[in-house]
Amino acid sequence: MLKIAPSILSADFAALADDIARVEAAGADQLHVDVMDGRFVPNITIGPVVVEAIRKRTRLPLDVHLMIVEPERYIQAFIGAGADAVTVHVEASPHLQRTLAQIGALNARAGAALNPSTHPSTLECVLDDLDLVLVMSVNPGFGGQKFIPSTLAKVRQVRTMLGERPVDVSVDGGITVGLVQALAAHGATTVVAGSAIFGAPDPAAAIKEMRSAAELRG
Ligand code: DX5
Ligand code: ZN
Repeated sequence: MLKIAPSILSADFAALADDIARVEAAGADQLHVDVMDGRFVPNITIGPVVVEAIRKRTRLPLDVHLMIVEPERYIQAFIGAGADAVTVHVEASPHLQRTLAQIGALNARAGAALNPSTHPSTLECVLDDLDLVLVMSVNPGFGGQKFIPSTLAKVRQVRTMLGERPVDVSVDGGITVGLVQALAAHGATTVVAGSAIFGAPDPAAAIKEMRSAAELRG
């Protein structure tokens, strides 16, 4: 079944616990936490201290997306703060295999993220070190951007490359209810959505709509 991961980047940071409670009650499968450093992407968000605070307020798995340079320097801090999964960008990780192994050794799920212009073949040598692949469907840094259509074929390519490995294929950026069925049909197992959920008048209803759209594919 397709997992739905609301991205808190589009939540109300002045009432974060309330927004998280709403999407948890609405059936979200995990919480996507966007970490940005103003260097890898032109925006700055949060650090381990916010993950620590969120950890105490939700039972949802925390899916931390590091859009930072030198992510290997912060893995321990984010996992210690409560991250269940840590995803680093291929483009910021010259020692990707070592970084993924480091995440696994700390008992968190290890993810690699691909920017829209990064080819899936960059993952060729680490397929057995991955628990998830995050296929970016926008250029990272901001919520509310438009989905890049070529992502669908890329999702299929990543799924094919992974073969039977039990690795999640998560898609992140510009995702609306209308895209969910096609994404699932192309091999996505998780969708990350910020503005389509937290920007909706009723985030709970948005999650339910995504859930049924995913089930249409069976
Ligand atoms: C973008 C982040 C995404 C973003 C998704 O850099 O990685 O997780 O918050 O937000 P929407 O769904 O609004 O594109
Ligand atoms: Zn993200």
